[in-house]
Amino acid sequence: MSILDQKTPQLGEEATLQVSFPATFVWGAATASYQVEGAVKEDGRGPSIWDWFSATPGKVYQDDTGDVTIDQYHRYSQDIALAKSLDLSAYRFSVSWSRVLPQGTGAVNQAGLDYYDRLVDELLAQGIEPVTTLYHWDLPLALYEKGGWVNRDTAYAYADYAEIMAQRLGDRVKMWQTHNEPWCVAYLGYGIGEHAPGHQDWPVVGTVGHHVLLSHGLAVPRIRAHIQPNAQIGITLNFTPGYAADNQPVTLARVEQARREDRWFTDPLFRGVYPDGLFTDLKTNPPPILPGDMEIISTPTDFLGVNNYTRSVFAASPDGSDAGSIQVPGALYTEMLWEVYPDGLLNLLVWLHEEYAPAALYITENGAAFPDTWNGGDEVHDPLRVAYLRDHIQAVGQAIEQGAPVKGYFVWSLMDNFEWAHGYSKRFGIVYVDYPTQRRIPKDSALWYANHIRRQHELQP
Ligand code: FCB
Repeated sequence: MSILDQKTPQLGEEATLQVSFPATFVWGAATASYQVEGAVKEDGRGPSIWDWFSATPGKVYQDDTGDVTIDQYHRYSQDIALAKSLDLSAYRFSVSWSRVLPQGTGAVNQAGLDYYDRLVDELLAQGIEPVTTLYHWDLPLALYEKGGWVNRDTAYAYADYAEIMAQRLGDRVKMWQTHNEPWCVAYLGYGIGEHAPGHQDWPVVGTVGHHVLLSHGLAVPRIRAHIQPNAQIGITLNFTPGYAADNQPVTLARVEQARREDRWFTDPLFRGVYPDGLFTDLKTNPPPILPGDMEIISTPTDFLGVNNYTRSVFAASPDGSDAGSIQVPGALYTEMLWEVYPDGLLNLLVWLHEEYAPAALYITENGAAFPDTWNGGDEVHDPLRVAYLRDHIQAVGQAIEQGAPVKGYFVWSLMDNFEWAHGYSKRFGIVYVDYPTQRRIPKDSALWYANHIRRQHELQP
């Protein structure tokens, strides 16, 4: 049977989940600094590559920027109260490196650090666990001017910054992620150029990925030195697993290539090696690996963060000479043109567990952009997002039943926000944001998620 004949069983909209979750399971939502904070020039924050990139005409849809976005820098209390009203147990946010170190290195901006103090304290006051990501793509511009991630020094600068954050928040934050999606940093930032800094420079892509990994490994012990014994450190990776629509050799080879790409970061992290053939696939130079690098990179961590939205399906061209990704006939696609395929998440989690045996897995991002309409009242109906979340959460539960040690799920995103090169044109939030007034309106998906969390609590003995 071809993959195209397999139908994912989608639950009816009213159906409840067929799985239950452990009492300790973490139910959260995620955001990232440049996407939600705004206040880019306030209290001593230095510029990041995303300020510069989005200010460059033609880089972002309609030249949107994160200058204001949803203004969480000023509205964090209200946003945390909203998260509380949805009964979230955790909030994943990222730290803007240039808010803390305006030049990337050197003098610390106390006012910037104070913001994250306030944010963490407010979350804890509301009984919401703060989950910190130290790098979600907003490199200080000053470091980019010194070569950015192509320059090995950036890895050492990052480790210094990570330690500063751990010193400040380590008494309160129990879950730390060094990086969000190094694949995007390297591939989208330096290969395709769709993300800041917008380079199309394939030869350096492998080097960028290596330096990001190195920075992670250098930072782990320096964070660990300042956090509580029961706190956890991990890294978040994105996966878009490849599937074959036919059995032609070109297709199977293309799927193998996609699998190698999915191992780009996991193999070094868990095994201390890069997959054979990876750098040829990526058409990039092999990175400069210095003695000891792979040992540093494979320093043990406490969990792997998994971001997953969709899969890729490949098919052979009519003449059989090549294979490319296709749209699956009859499948549902989100506004990002990402196929809705919950079984992909199930298979991914089971594969990661069987292949790498991470101590724990967290879904650090999963969600969907659909065109939402708000009629000016208190409701936003988003049945497709409700179904998306329910079916993916169901897949997570099935993965747990199959032995994957999944400990938590974070929906992307708590609120609509600046969606990188798509600007404000894609809404991923479970809470709608009316940008001109900054009004927040929980969508049906937020209410569904809150109900789901409450039901999980009721089911516990
Ligand atoms: C992920 C990013 C996140 C958001 C979602 C839709 O790759 O980590 O910031 O853009 O995609």
